[in-house]
Amino acid sequence: MADDVFPPGFFDRSDPSPDTAFYAPPRFVTHIDDRAIAAVGALYAELGLDGDVLDLCASWVSHFTAAPRRLVGLGMNADELAANPMLASHVVRDLNADPTLPFDDAGFDDAVCCVSVDYLVDPVAVFGEVARVLRPGGRFVVTFSNRCFPTKAIRGWLAADDEGRLQIVNAFFVVSGGFGQVRGGLRTPPGRGDPLYAVWATRR
Ligand SMILES: C[S@@+](CC[C@H](N)C(=O)[O-])C[C@H]1O[C@@H](n2cnc3c(N)ncnc32)[C@H](O)[C@@H]1O
Repeated sequence: MADDVFPPGFFDRSDPSPDTAFYAPPRFVTHIDDRAIAAVGALYAELGLDGDVLDLCASWVSHFTAAPRRLVGLGMNADELAANPMLASHVVRDLNADPTLPFDDAGFDDAVCCVSVDYLVDPVAVFGEVARVLRPGGRFVVTFSNRCFPTKAIRGWLAADDEGRLQIVNAFFVVSGGFGQVRGGLRTPPGRGDPLYAVWATRR
C-alpha cells in the first residue's frame, strides 16, 4: 500500500551512506529553540505521557516537563543517550538498517519521536513496530519543526511545506495500519521562533 501513497524516490536521501557514520560524533545541542521545546513538553504533559514511554530517535534531552515513570530511549549515539538524565535505559539502533524495535509486544504505554521522523527511510514499518510495542490505547506522538539535517532527510519531506509534512506524518500513521484517528497541528503560538508541529494517534 505504501507504494501507492508515496511516489518513487520519496524515501531517497542525498546521502544514502550508513547512518552510523553521520551520527558517530555526539551532538550535545538542541535542534529546536526553547519555545518549541516548551511546546513539546507542554503537549506531553497535556496528553499525560507519564507511564512506560519509548523515546524513538532519542538523544541527550527528551523534553518532558517531568520524567515519565520509565523512559526508554532508542537512538544512534551512545554518548548522547548515556547523558540523557531522563532515560531509565537506552539502546543504540539504526532503524534505517533494521526498522524493527528490540522490544516485546505491548511493553509501553506511549511513544514519542521528536524532530526525527524525516530521517526514517521506512517510516511505515517503524510506525507499525511502534504499534506493536504499544499497549492498546497507547499514543504515539510525533513532533517536528522546519529544520533538519538535509542530506539525511528523505526527499519527500524536503519537497513538502509544513502543511504537507502534517499530511505526510498522517499518512505514515494511516498506512501503517496500527492506529486509530490521527490528530495534530501547530503547537507553538504565532510569533518569532521555530514552529512546532505535532501529529499523534492512538494504537488500536
Ligand atoms: C535532530 S536529532 C533529534 C534528537 C532528539 N529526539 C531531540 O529531540 O533532540 C535526530 C535524532 O534522530 C536519531 N536518528 C537519526 N537516524 C536514525 C536512525 N537511522 N535510527 C535511529 N535513530 C536515528 C539520531 O540519533 C538523533 O538523535
